[in-house]
Amino acid sequence: MLQDNYTRLYDYCVEHSTPMDEILYELDRETHLKTLAPRMSSGPIQGRILSLISNLLRPKYILEIGTFTGFATLNLVRGLQPDGELITVEVNAELQHISHKYFTKSGYSDRINQLIGNAKEIVPELDYKFDLIFLDAGKKDYPIYYELILPKLRKGGIILADNILWSGKILDENMDKTSVILDEFNKQVVEDSRVENVILPLRDGINVIRKL
Ligand SMILES: C[S@@+](CC[C@H](N)C(=O)[O-])C[C@H]1O[C@@H](n2cnc3c(N)ncnc32)[C@H](O)[C@@H]1O
Repeated sequence: MLQDNYTRLYDYCVEHSTPMDEILYELDRETHLKTLAPRMSSGPIQGRILSLISNLLRPKYILEIGTFTGFATLNLVRGLQPDGELITVEVNAELQHISHKYFTKSGYSDRINQLIGNAKEIVPELDYKFDLIFLDAGKKDYPIYYELILPKLRKGGIILADNILWSGKILDENMDKTSVILDEFNKQVVEDSRVENVILPLRDGINVIRKL
């Protein structure tokens, strides 16, 4: 019943929010048709929130960890400054034919730099001060990514860490391994004096972290 209500409310939110444009709609559709886990994609509401945050911040440099098919990328890039750059890192090269196609169609491909490989090896090599970072790769590595990305974030910059409520499993008495690590990650953040944060209970939970 609760799930039913949640689904209806979610659908209501989609119906009463600015709709996806044609490119995002096509990408969303192709993601659902051609990938095994389309749920990994941010989807219309979270995508709209990412583009809204990006438009509010007007970042010059954005980092995304975990491109998947590029749905979040194409939302985040909308707030990027005209001379800015969005770097998105993806370990699975097989997804690139989808993301690349839509980056090109979107007209933003000259500002999107997709790096294929393991983010744990790539991020330490990036010589940037990012304004906005979307953390959305393997959840078990969040504590590691956090320490890798925080030095690369400018003061006042924002990290958005996705899925930190893990479908509510974070409250289970017998938490699975991922929930245990995400719970540790959320504690790591709230106890870190270098940042302030708030968890938005949106979709699967987003930890919004601002560097002080
Ligand atoms: C949840 S999906 C990303 C969804 C995308 N950000 C969106 O919202 O549309 C997570 C992605 O992270 C990628 N990934 C997992 N481990 C990674 C790693 N070590 N380095 C880079 N990408 C990784 C996965 O292959 C997967 O495509």
